[in-house]
Amino acid sequence: MKNALVIYYSQSGQLTEIAKNFAKPLENSPEYTVTYASIEPVNDYGFPWKGYQFFDSFPESVDKIPCEIKPLDLESEDFDLIVFAYSVWYMSPSIPSNSFLLSEQAKRIFKGKPVITLLGVRNMWVVAQEYVKERIKELGGNLIGNIVLRDRAENMTGIITISYFLFTGKKDRFLGFFPKAGISEKDIKSADKFGEIVKDFFDNNQLDQMQNALVKAKAVKVNPYLASTEQMAFKRVFTKWSSFILKKGGAGDPARKVRVRIFANYFPFAILLIAPIKYVFFLIFAPFKLKSIKKEIAYFSGVELKSNN
Ligand SMILES: Cc1cc2nc3c(=O)[nH]c(=O)nc-3n(C[C@H](O)[C@H](O)[C@H](O)COP(=O)(O)O)c2cc1C
Repeated sequence: MKNALVIYYSQSGQLTEIAKNFAKPLENSPEYTVTYASIEPVNDYGFPWKGYQFFDSFPESVDKIPCEIKPLDLESEDFDLIVFAYSVWYMSPSIPSNSFLLSEQAKRIFKGKPVITLLGVRNMWVVAQEYVKERIKELGGNLIGNIVLRDRAENMTGIITISYFLFTGKKDRFLGFFPKAGISEKDIKSADKFGEIVKDFFDNNQLDQMQNALVKAKAVKVNPYLASTEQMAFKRVFTKWSSFILKKGGAGDPARKVRVRIFANYFPFAILLIAPIKYVFFLIFAPFKLKSIKKEIAYFSGVELKSNN
């Protein structure tokens, strides 16, 4: 009998559904028991989001400042396989997910254990995953698989539809003609096919070959333009804005209101103006960088951690 633990935090229920569908093949097997553990912040983030709160969560997301969470209510902390399902906030694991990774309980649960990361995101996740890889290594876990479910809408369209989803809680078609918001129902439903692969490779003790099989089954798709944009934006833009806001105070501090509001005005402008410019530059220079682009796609599709990280 093998014990699998699925840890997740989801606001809308989207990631909960993904995690549960993913784990179905394990649940349906008599050889596995599956325990689900939802991360619960002491003061949860409201959903649907209100404008100010959405932008006020930016510095703590980027600077990885944890919120207070309740310990996971588990009978035992000894599992054979850990599935860490998380969504991304501002190119970082969501604050509650990160708070768990920084907890004492995570040290006990992850130490010496194989870990699968399962993401439910819009489309920018590689920077967050690099950070999560580092945390898992620090916790003594062994990352053996990564699966990323994402919004398949074109980048600009996706920004509009996810804003509609996050600020209203609705996943229908914005204005009747935009594509449906978030990750498609079809992708969510078929997450079990990745669970099947994980189960097969886990059963046969072929952990080092699991990620290759997952990549072949399209469990991860790296968009090189988005990957280079987010790496640049996180380092050059996000970290600077975050420390600018944090100088005025921590989460919810009214002293930082003005700076959060300036950021809230800058953010959509940056997305609408800078992102397309970056895209044009990417297209111009891509033919000269094919080798390094291919290398980057292979790296971000995998589970290894670069030694200089
Ligand atoms: C504050 C905030 C910031 C987000 N930033 C990103 C991001 O940088 N990249 C991304 O792909 N998705 C981003 N998303 C979308 C989430 O990753 C996720 O798909 C969505 O919030 C639904 O998750 P849920 O299951 O918790 O409801 C963000 C969502 C929120 C609420």
